[in-house]
Amino acid sequence: MREVSGKTDILGIIGNPIEHTLSPLIHNTIAEIDGHDTVYIPFHIKNETLEVGVKGAHGLGVRGMNVTVPYKKEVMKVISDIDDMAKAIGAVNTLVYEENGFKGYNTDAYGFSRELKENGIDVDSKDVIIVGAGGATNAVVNALLSMGAAKIYMLNRSTEKAKAAFGSIPEVEVYALSEWDKIAAGKYFCAQCTSVGLAPNDDESPIMDEGFFDLVDSVVDIIYRPAETKFMKLAKEHGARVFNGLDMLLYQAIESYRLFTGHEVSEKAIDEARRRLLKALN
Ligand code: ATR
Repeated sequence: MREVSGKTDILGIIGNPIEHTLSPLIHNTIAEIDGHDTVYIPFHIKNETLEVGVKGAHGLGVRGMNVTVPYKKEVMKVISDIDDMAKAIGAVNTLVYEENGFKGYNTDAYGFSRELKENGIDVDSKDVIIVGAGGATNAVVNALLSMGAAKIYMLNRSTEKAKAAFGSIPEVEVYALSEWDKIAAGKYFCAQCTSVGLAPNDDESPIMDEGFFDLVDSVVDIIYRPAETKFMKLAKEHGARVFNGLDMLLYQAIESYRLFTGHEVSEKAIDEARRRLLKALN
């Protein structure tokens, strides 16, 4: 247990449910390894108390909070300022204390981009594939475009939903999941952003067709429970390099910690946080 004193900065995360969050593990490991006086606490906030909870946390001087499901959009209504990137993504996952209220940021796109960079995946001027058009897709689209992706083939169960959310982005072309064969022959990076395959449904994949996986040379599945999804297994069997969403989770936290405290997180703390995450998930 970290020692808490009158000088300790309080950080936390709000969500509903919150009991399975891995964020306290990451942030408290950073504080321990890098020797910072912060403590990070999960807060289970019910829908009807979101506003009073966030304003109360500000009143108590909480220095920063992460925001998770289901509040990433809703929280935007109860904070005093929103960073441009978070506005573009349409969701906030990080609140940073400012005198007049919390300012909202989104570090998910940073987390995704850094996972790609660390693994040598270059999408600059390349066409890419995204499977899924839910909440998580916003940050992934933003990250891929900021890394220079040319065209984004977006495959989704509901083409209407995907078009409503992403159809206005010129680089995005929307298709149904079964229409993967409309993608021009080639080898693509693919981001799997649906919730299909999440534990305990380990044997499910949004696309099962072998032919689709011939189109893919590298995959990031944003799921990290299980560590290897069915989608990743199928892609691997077709020779693709595959990565789960754990590093995206880790790197979004690293960027949040930097925004909360101004401290760059050391490589040693990142490695130790990853080691503990892997242990917690096993
Ligand atoms: P959100 O992330 O916005 O909360 P979600 O319901 O978890 O949304 O769904 C995220 C993504 O998973 C969406 O792309 C969703 O497809 P639809 O837009 O067609 O709903 C996709 N998804 C969820 N369940 C699915 C399933 N059984 N088959 C295929 N795609 C699915």
